[in-house]
Amino acid sequence: MIQATTFHVGPIPIHGDAILSPMDGFSDWPFRSLCRELGSAMSYTEFVKAEEILKPPKLIADKLRYEDDERPVVIQIYGDDPEVMLAAALRAQELEADIVDINMGCPSKTIANRGAGVGLMRTPLKVARIFKLLSASLEIPLTGKIRLGWDDDCRNYPLIARIVEENGGALIALHGRTKEQGYRGKANWEAIAEVKDAVSIPVIGNGDIKTADDIGRMREYTNCDAVMIGRAAIGNPWIFSRLDREEVNFEQVREMMLKHLERNLAFYGNEIGLVLFRKHAVRYLTPYRLEREFRKELLTRQQPEEFVVLLDQIYNKND
Ligand SMILES: Cc1cc2nc3c(=O)[nH]c(=O)nc-3n(C[C@H](O)[C@H](O)[C@H](O)COP(=O)(O)O)c2cc1C
Repeated sequence: MIQATTFHVGPIPIHGDAILSPMDGFSDWPFRSLCRELGSAMSYTEFVKAEEILKPPKLIADKLRYEDDERPVVIQIYGDDPEVMLAAALRAQELEADIVDINMGCPSKTIANRGAGVGLMRTPLKVARIFKLLSASLEIPLTGKIRLGWDDDCRNYPLIARIVEENGGALIALHGRTKEQGYRGKANWEAIAEVKDAVSIPVIGNGDIKTADDIGRMREYTNCDAVMIGRAAIGNPWIFSRLDREEVNFEQVREMMLKHLERNLAFYGNEIGLVLFRKHAVRYLTPYRLEREFRKELLTRQQPEEFVVLLDQIYNKND
């Protein structure tokens, strides 16, 4: 089905209003491509450190791989040095990304305390410098993903959103939590509405989308152009087809797990592919109360074929 254009990022039309969040360790090609096929409107890579995109070791190189049918593809980078960010963004452009995104939301101490991720929001002038420099040098759109701010005393999202817009940014994604909140507490949808009201570039709202109905609820409440879904998509990529997990039967789950596993094996090779699939398997299987021993066995199998045999046993029990 061809969907109408929902909004544009610079000249790039986006079809659809729900997007898989960039998630380190999760939004790799196997998972991204499945979500995209189910309706996620564009593909964000996991974030990549600006210095590392310039000389990527194997695991980082994997984060930058994508397929053409995922387009529009957004390569997300993090860092705090404008010149290095520029070189990294130009490299992303060379890799033929459609869009470059600057991560201003990561709360991890090793990143934020060094002034990158959400730490960048504490230096608004630097945000301005980075956006001005990069947007003037890139031929593709530049976007930013932000949080509310560092903590309750420094919720400077309105300022940062304006800076992004005034310095050439083509879209803002806002996760409605502070750094201090991490991933806890309620996401503030009012802030998303406020930013949508304040800027004229598109705004993606993010935080607390847990069910398919939440997509429409957030859009209505905030008037945002699209929503980003992170944790709720793990184990439920069907949310991009507007289905909650209760609406998906075991046959569909089994098929999806096999497809996901197959892509992981093709992408990472058998050994790493299976290991990296386990965290997804746990989430696909959460609704089925598996006996502890059985679950342990499933998650420690070393060979993909053994994994599939065990999965078939669960299937036969639940059929
Ligand atoms: C495991 C994990 C990894 C994440 N990695 C990234 C990342 O690489 N880049 C980014 O911008 N946000 C990252 N995030 C934040 C999510 O994109 C999203 O903003 C956050 O999870 C809130 O959305 P949710 O409530 O739908 O999960 C990550 C979140 C999680 C849980």
